[in-house]
Amino acid sequence: MIDPFGRSISYLRVSVTDRCDFRCVYCMSEDMAFLPKAEILTLEELDRLSGAFIRLGVKKLRLTGGEPLVRKNIMHLFRSLGRHLQTGDLEELTLTTNGSQLAKYARDLKEAGVKRINVSLDTLDAQKFAAITRWGRFDQVMDGIRAAKSAGLQVKLNAVALKGVNDGEFDKLIGWCGEEGFDLTLIEVMPLGEVGSGTRVDQYLPLSMVRADLRKRWTLDESDYKTGGPARYYTVRETGQRLGLITPMTHNFCESCNRVRLTCTGTLYMCLGQEDAADLRAPLRASESDAPVEAAIRAAIDRKPKGHDFIIDRRHDRPAVARHMSVTGG
Ligand code: 5AD
Ligand code: SF4
Repeated sequence: MIDPFGRSISYLRVSVTDRCDFRCVYCMSEDMAFLPKAEILTLEELDRLSGAFIRLGVKKLRLTGGEPLVRKNIMHLFRSLGRHLQTGDLEELTLTTNGSQLAKYARDLKEAGVKRINVSLDTLDAQKFAAITRWGRFDQVMDGIRAAKSAGLQVKLNAVALKGVNDGEFDKLIGWCGEEGFDLTLIEVMPLGEVGSGTRVDQYLPLSMVRADLRKRWTLDESDYKTGGPARYYTVRETGQRLGLITPMTHNFCESCNRVRLTCTGTLYMCLGQEDAADLRAPLRASESDAPVEAAIRAAIDRKPKGHDFIIDRRHDRPAVARHMSVTGG
């Protein structure tokens, strides 16, 4: 699948639920309204839709949410998608998780063919963790991360850079990831959805500034490592681990975009930061044949936008798009 700007679309992210057992301050408001269960595609339908994307050329598939591991019977979907790894039609199956359920699922994930996982962790300080996630339990996540490591999953941590919250802790995170053998990616906060707690201007910390500061203490070697995601990677010479920077705000990362996002209701978003979407649920349910849904996917890719228009400053201190990251999928 090639979009109007010549970008090849080979990466699908599927948000399998908009629900989550945490309420991170940059992601959700405390009193979120979730989708009614009746709106949500069954796991079989998500499997069928993913299959259609794989036939059309998707090579990398990431399950996200919300928190993907809180969806009932989610391992059925992982196991079923894992069969595309065996045939070689799919190159990578992975997930983004908050880690809370990893102690339970790490081994099953590994058995389903998952090799690398992203765990969202913004701090190593239990109290700060509680303040950021509102409902999260730090020890539970740490147990989950340990379980993932001992199951043989390659772990990458994602930390959202939050001004005045975890900006004093990046050294500690880099050091700890070095000891544990984890890669680390820092992410700029994006203006997605109302979060009701402080404002985006207060949260937003440009990573260009963070990088300049880190360079006073760490040697960051430019790396040409690519995961098919939007991060730019450095190797931290002192630890040997990779440090990724995702800078949707200070640097336009859209030129090399290879991905689209499917929600748990079967809505396809061609861009994280634009409203335009395509309904795939109707064509999916209209026919036993996948021809209508494949046609709808192609038509959607044909109108993938060039990029987002995120701005965070005093004059633009409101969401660029109304939907939360937990709907579209991280
Ligand atoms: N801006 C940047 N990152 C976000 N995430 C959730 N909401 C936002 C936001 N508004 C992150 C989570 C997780 C990933 C899926 O997206 O921390 O790591
Ligand atoms: Fe849940 Fe992840 Fe959003 Fe936090 S960032 S509330 S863990 S979906």
